[in-house]
Amino acid sequence: MARARSAYRCTECGHEHPKWVGRCEACGEWNSVAEEPVAASGASKRSAGLARGRGAAGRAAEPPSRLRDVADRPLERWRTGLDEFDFVLGGGIVPGSMTLIGGEPGIGKSTLLLQAAARLERGGRTVLYASGEESPEQLRLRADRLAEDAGAVHVLGETSLERILDAAQALPADLVVLDSIQTVYTDTLESAPGNVAQVRECSGQLMRFAKDSGTAAFVVGHVTKGGGIAGPKTLEHIVDTVLYFEGEASLDYRLLRATKNRFGSVDELGVFSMTDAGLVPVPNPSAVFLAARADGISGSAVTALMEGTRPVLVEVQALASRSGYGTPQRVSTGLDPKRLAVLLAVLERRADTSFAELDVFVQATAGVRLGEPGTDLAVAAALVSSLYNRPAPADVIFVGEIGLGGEVRPTAGVERRVAEAGRLGFRRVFASGRSAVKVPGMELVAVDHIGQLVRALAA
Ligand code: TYD
Ligand code: MG
Repeated sequence: MARARSAYRCTECGHEHPKWVGRCEACGEWNSVAEEPVAASGASKRSAGLARGRGAAGRAAEPPSRLRDVADRPLERWRTGLDEFDFVLGGGIVPGSMTLIGGEPGIGKSTLLLQAAARLERGGRTVLYASGEESPEQLRLRADRLAEDAGAVHVLGETSLERILDAAQALPADLVVLDSIQTVYTDTLESAPGNVAQVRECSGQLMRFAKDSGTAAFVVGHVTKGGGIAGPKTLEHIVDTVLYFEGEASLDYRLLRATKNRFGSVDELGVFSMTDAGLVPVPNPSAVFLAARADGISGSAVTALMEGTRPVLVEVQALASRSGYGTPQRVSTGLDPKRLAVLLAVLERRADTSFAELDVFVQATAGVRLGEPGTDLAVAAALVSSLYNRPAPADVIFVGEIGLGGEVRPTAGVERRVAEAGRLGFRRVFASGRSAVKVPGMELVAVDHIGQLVRALAA
């Protein structure tokens, strides 16, 4: 007779410990290990099935087939018509897929999904929007604000996963939206909604439901202080696609990106603006990001970075100012502080500039991340421009990676980045002389060493 067993699991990474510990061995987080009851069913059913000589799922086992004999069906996709949303997904929603969408409270996750749901319904698909966060009345209030008619969407104020799945089956729904995964619970576990075990079990059940029925599923997940999706890391491993919806709640831009996508490329960026009537896709993000840029101000440089397959122009701003304290501050938003430290060190040693007694602040516009090395040259240009208080020319973009020797390296996809800059009225690109730039109307200014950049900007 098996007795009820408990497991001790980290709420951050999902690692299982044999007993309670104050600090998770796997991720190092303090006070994150919690006791959880083990589902009595799962493991025992599986061993019983095996004992009877059947497959783990209880069905007669199918023999494996050769990969080339597996049917090669083209992937079906449902387009919502919300262009930036479809684009980030890789062309639309894939039937039977499961997508997790994370983001801070109030950023617009529910609005985005309700708009996508409304459009799918208009296209003849059935959508079940199950909300444990808001009542159907509240959903109705939100829907009334939207420019589109969401009246046909099926809503359910329910937190029991079993009842939600029953409703989805009864409709039957083509798409199920769970808002949010932290509010649902399954009867097979006794723990409270939001608990790691619940989150994992509910997503597992939903995933099986999606795969078996061909229903697509969207799951909203809350974001922790660290910026990850709350609940076990395993959640991100289970699902097919992970989307993050981010932006400053006070600004009206919202950025949607995929950090994992089994049906498309990752790191694609979709840009929306939040209006009085819901989210509106922004087809030309570069123009929006540069809209607030003031000419003739020092410490500003524009770069073109690749967000997935699309070049996007972004303004990098730097401010170097005399430090009031013993140790100067280095503060960066959107740029890894370590990368900033490297660039400052290279500027000091290889280009004879000194930031030693200055506080340095660097930021990129609209919450964009300067994650790729091709943005180095623009960060350096912004720093130098602020140091000498000389504005960089207004018609120039900077593209290039900087090495520890101060050398400027060519960057992948330069042609596409430069073409985007040309479209927006820029005329010159500062880049490695080895870059092949043949865009009509754009001139390449060869910068092969950071010293050249400093001379060009300080002159
Ligand atoms: P919401 O979708 O509820 O965010 P989340 O589900 O991520 O928590 O969006 C909430 C915010 O969006 C709220 O502050 C109001 C704002 N909003 C608009 O500005 N315009 C609109 O048309 C809607 C529906 C919301
Ligand atoms: Mg919400």
